[in-house]
Amino acid sequence: MRRIRVIGIGAGNPEHVTIQAVNALNSCDVLFVPTKGAEKEFLAQLRHDICDRFITARQPRYVHFSVPTRSTQSGYEQSVGEWHSAIAAIYEDLLAGQVEEDETVGLLVWGDPMLFDSTLRILEHVRANGRVAFDYDVIPGITSLQALCAGHKIPLNRIGMPVEITTGRRLAESWPDNVDDVAVMLDGRRAYETVNDPEAVIYWGAYLGTPMEIRLDGRLADIGAEISRVRAEARAKHGWIMDTYLLRRPAKESDSDQ
Ligand SMILES: C[S@@+](CC[C@H](N)C(=O)[O-])C[C@H]1O[C@@H](n2cnc3c(N)ncnc32)[C@H](O)[C@@H]1O
Repeated sequence: MRRIRVIGIGAGNPEHVTIQAVNALNSCDVLFVPTKGAEKEFLAQLRHDICDRFITARQPRYVHFSVPTRSTQSGYEQSVGEWHSAIAAIYEDLLAGQVEEDETVGLLVWGDPMLFDSTLRILEHVRANGRVAFDYDVIPGITSLQALCAGHKIPLNRIGMPVEITTGRRLAESWPDNVDDVAVMLDGRRAYETVNDPEAVIYWGAYLGTPMEIRLDGRLADIGAEISRVRAEARAKHGWIMDTYLLRRPAKESDSDQ
């Protein structure tokens, strides 16, 4: 049976790649590499750099495929569902047409596959379609949130306190209930600008782990506009941006377990 290895490759620094991931890469006959746009070109190049550096066994075959863009015509959930189905159909075709029954395929996933990534959902979709049989396993990777916290030298959570991981789209609607620590990803709309809390602090990072890394932190009221300026400049310079941040506001005494 075909075997798929879903390999977390870290969030931008080739040195995030774990020894488990190196061993998994070296076990692959074929690697699927997505390509699309300026951002994806950088990601595809990083994937190649990782492979060149860490694959020391036989060379795998590279199969490039173009990732379809998500439609903005239908509602968010429907468009994500349609997008996943389209990617699942591509995986199915590639598995059936480019991979022998006894071969191992590597899917290199940015950061870790468990965090804001749909590879595992899409593979289950392919499996449910029943056209191609395969087994798969998952190799964890360093996430962008780990890179953010390491860069700022902060723990993700305060003692005994919860953290919510959310999207810019949701933060723009409101600060989540019952938490004072919010990690935000996928924020194309600068949702931190909508937070109106004079005590909130932000730890922001873009292109974490890459040579383009930028980090800023401070009271949101003092530094929010500076982040937006730096963000716009970096985005114009590189043609794309990936950023994430942690927002913290003072916790009420009663919120803590300790
Ligand atoms: C589709 S999610 C993938 C997350 C990934 N699976 C992980 O483990 O970090 C993409 C989002 O992750 C965040 N992200 C990923 N890599 C990043 C990096 N190197 N620097 C800053 N943010 C990053 C950004 O918020 C971006 O919009």
